[in-house]
Amino acid sequence: MPDSPQDPAVGQEPAVRKNSLGSLLIGVLLVAAVVGAFIFFRPPSLAGDRAKLDAPLSAAQQQQADARTITMAEVEANDGLEGRPAWIAVNGIVFDVSESAGWEDGEHRGVRAGTDGTDLFVSSPHGYDFMARTPILGRLAG
Ligand code: HEM
Repeated sequence: MPDSPQDPAVGQEPAVRKNSLGSLLIGVLLVAAVVGAFIFFRPPSLAGDRAKLDAPLSAAQQQQADARTITMAEVEANDGLEGRPAWIAVNGIVFDVSESAGWEDGEHRGVRAGTDGTDLFVSSPHGYDFMARTPILGRLAG
């Protein structure tokens, strides 16, 4: 049957039209596979998961924690402001975030150094690995 005058493929060889349709189909399938894989394999968010606090510290980290007892008043004094060190308590361990990425002047995504950040940490998307690679200062008293 001859092509109608509105057909954009008028004048093209049937083999050429078939080829470009095939490439389009492969392209669409590839995009769908990539998007599908991204959705399927995306790690679940850890926001709100209290169990992440149970992640064990290494023996060396336990030793560091046990070596010093720190009061909440000491944590509060190290708020990262005016050049002071930036400390944060998470689940009874006091961490030094003075040199941590994204903690300039003791502030990180609405969290302030000099506080107990346990609940905010639980609601954050972090796993405990973020704390485990942060220097430990000691254990919180009480
Ligand atoms: C909405 C909440 C939070 C979000 C979206 C978030 C996101 C991030 C991101 C993207 C980083 C990488 C550095 C950067 O680009 O800033 C980071 C680092 C870090 N975050 Fe959070 N964060 C949140 C809350 C918290 C809380 C509550 C704590 C602890 C109490 C925390 C502890 C840390 C630490 C220690 C690092 C540095 C880790 C390193 O040195 O590699 N974050 N955070």
